[in-house]
Amino acid sequence: MFSVDYEYCTNKLNESRLEGKVALITGAATGIGESTARLFAKHGAKVLVADVNDELGEKICKELGPSSTSFVHCDVTKESDVETAVNTAVAKFGKLDILHNNAGIGGVPNPSILEIEKSEFEKIINVNLVGAFLGAKHAARVMFPNRRVNIITTASTCSKIGRGTSHNYVSSKHGVVGLTKNLAVELGQHGIRVNCVSPHVVPTRQSKEFYKMDDEGCRGVYSVLKGVYLQPEDVAEAVLFLASDESKCVHGHNLFVDGGVTIANSKFSMFD
Ligand SMILES: NC(=O)c1ccc[n+]([C@@H]2O[C@H](COP(=O)([O-])OP(=O)(O)OC[C@H]3O[C@@H](n4cnc5c(N)ncnc54)[C@H](O)[C@@H]3O)[C@@H](O)[C@H]2O)c1
Repeated sequence: MFSVDYEYCTNKLNESRLEGKVALITGAATGIGESTARLFAKHGAKVLVADVNDELGEKICKELGPSSTSFVHCDVTKESDVETAVNTAVAKFGKLDILHNNAGIGGVPNPSILEIEKSEFEKIINVNLVGAFLGAKHAARVMFPNRRVNIITTASTCSKIGRGTSHNYVSSKHGVVGLTKNLAVELGQHGIRVNCVSPHVVPTRQSKEFYKMDDEGCRGVYSVLKGVYLQPEDVAEAVLFLASDESKCVHGHNLFVDGGVTIANSKFSMFD
């Protein structure tokens, strides 16, 4: 008879799952990146917080303590900034085990192809997709000799479905998944794991500005799994799983953290 040792499982989950690891997280001054930085530090990782928002980034590092965290100014659209961020992780903490490509912007909601400016389209692609490409390029350079290292990018449910947001954002997040799969094929040869995490709407500065929603509005977008409303911490837990050795066989995967939103057509259901 099969039985689960719940005490063993709980203890395992409470352990320091990133002890001895060094992580670089972009867009870590607020929202999902901030939650991930806090959770990684709690699990024993040394964390380099990278963001364009120096004030908030520095504040988090001060709170978490200089022995486990440090801040670096980094605009992910600038190759020299990304290169410096990777080099800073190695200089400060000796190596780089985990890159969380998380920086992202939602831009201006402008759903019509007839109205969207080329520059607005490019702006989102630059941060969300080119930023992830630059992160992977420079992280891979220093990760090659190491074992059990990995790259995780924050995609979105917009990496699977259209509607609900703009062409530029949806294109950028679909692009991130393509990049992840191709990187997984190349970097897998060197033992580097590459994955994405795809949240649905999380109440953060970005989503509230983009959708003009308050917390209650963000809760209203969940309909499949009763009582589930995503918070930044829920996404951070999924990133922790992908970053830790518990997921050592998960590779080239897009992990949806969405309460099942992407599996159903909410307008066509017998169960409402
Ligand atoms: N909030 C959601 O509903 C949601 C859902 C799915 C995916 N996402 C994705 O999650 C990621 C984090 O978003 P969030 O919701 O936490 O938003 P947020 O606005 O709270 O955080 C984004 C962070 O990225 C930083 N940033 C912006 N441009 C940057 C750049 N060029 N270089 C470096 N840092 C930059 C910001 O300063 C900020 O700290 C993004 O990739 C976003 O697309 C968010």
